[in-house]
Amino acid sequence: MNTALIILGAGKGTRMKSDLPKVLHPIGGAPMIVHAMKAGAGLSPDQTIIVAGHGADLVEAAALDHDPDAQVVLQTEQLGTAHAVAQAKDALAGFAGDAVVLYGDTPFIRPETLTAMAEARANHDIIVLGFNAKDPGKYGRLITQGDTLERIVEFKDASDEERAVTLCNSGVIMSKSQTLFDLIEVVDNDNASGEYYLTDIIAIGRDKGLSATVVACDEAETLGVNARAELVSAEADFQARARRDTLEDGVILTAPDTVFFAHDTVIGRDAIVEQNVVFANGVTVESNARIRAFSHLEGCHVSQGATVGPYARLRPGAELQEDVHIGNFVEVKKSIIATGAKVNHLTYIGDADIGARANIGAGTITCNYDGVFKHRTVIGEDAFIGSNTMLVAPVKIGDNAMTGSGSVVTKDVPDGALGVGRARQENKIGFAVKMFEKLKNLKAKQEKRS
Ligand code: UD1
Ligand code: CA
Repeated sequence: MNTALIILGAGKGTRMKSDLPKVLHPIGGAPMIVHAMKAGAGLSPDQTIIVAGHGADLVEAAALDHDPDAQVVLQTEQLGTAHAVAQAKDALAGFAGDAVVLYGDTPFIRPETLTAMAEARANHDIIVLGFNAKDPGKYGRLITQGDTLERIVEFKDASDEERAVTLCNSGVIMSKSQTLFDLIEVVDNDNASGEYYLTDIIAIGRDKGLSATVVACDEAETLGVNARAELVSAEADFQARARRDTLEDGVILTAPDTVFFAHDTVIGRDAIVEQNVVFANGVTVESNARIRAFSHLEGCHVSQGATVGPYARLRPGAELQEDVHIGNFVEVKKSIIATGAKVNHLTYIGDADIGARANIGAGTITCNYDGVFKHRTVIGEDAFIGSNTMLVAPVKIGDNAMTGSGSVVTKDVPDGALGVGRARQENKIGFAVKMFEKLKNLKAKQEKRS
């Protein structure tokens, strides 16, 4: 069955008290709406329609950044969820498959749950995702008879008897796209909120003889974010799940509760991640690599057998090949460190290519930025960079070449050569003793005077 996603994200999210549209607040480093898109992607949708309103330009940019094929439609006035869905009608004109409505502020729906809904479509025209709420609060209530969903009643419009129902509406609805738009046409706003409720399509559909049913999921999946405190607890839930999943994948986490993951972190089995490591977006760590304590990684790739940290920072574009060693207080950005190379202490490597087995001495800095442009540093295989070398880019150090400690290297060093760029040392015999005597006499005179 062909499927289209309609993701609602036009609401302002007043209770977030933020200039950022609600659906763009991040969880695990990705805007909430991207989580909804990722969940829906499990259905391999032919079209993804985002309904944007407040901050539509920003919402559009975030959605297209994740999926350039997504389509963004505008809902200029937020007149209710049915009205929001209606804005997707033109974008889906002629689409013959199923439509699935998701919310941009409900980030944890599992792809498996949507698959279960798609399967239930074999026997029913409309599927609503429900959950048994511990505290049903203001959720819409699902009024069922046997397997049949008869209608949904919003809290504000519900009788006491209806409010006692604990089976609640998650908001996720699936039906034939054409059916959805046909039913929405009939929805009015004659209710306690004066809004066009999407939930009304159930009773309307039942009147027309369509069948509707509920697929239930865990309440944790339908968790919606409306205020800052909920965003914080959603982040905590996300991290808890990421830690569990990572352990389940065979990764060794020495102190899972201290490690933070992003939505797209990938770590191979038997890799070791020590305490207090942060994975920002875009990190891949291969099997048997070791990420030592207090390291921060973003947009980088760590190959098999490599070790990183403690206290290392890998920034976007850091590519570590096999068996590389990155040590304490080392920062690497937009650089390829080839197999077996070592950068062990107190170093900045930016915009560089480092050859296989090269050894970069403590305190080395690639001076990659001249204030206007960035320049590259190239270091050959088996090169040895002396401690505290300043590599003023653009500059190239050859294979098997060396630099003298403390050098400021501004010219290329050929293969096999030693490059030294510092004042030559001179020893003045007996000079230190004479100097000490002179200084001590001076101090004695001063103390007498005072
Ligand atoms: C809705 C459901 C309720 C369900 C609850 C689950 C309706 C009428 N009610 O209520 O049954 O239990 O979600 O969380 O559908 N939106 C738009 N445009 C609009 C209105 C809403 O894009 O005009 C978007 C919002 O940005 C949000 C989502 O739709 O992402 C849900 O809207 P919201 O107003 O939060 O619905 P609820 O009142 O919570
Ligand atoms: Ca809501």
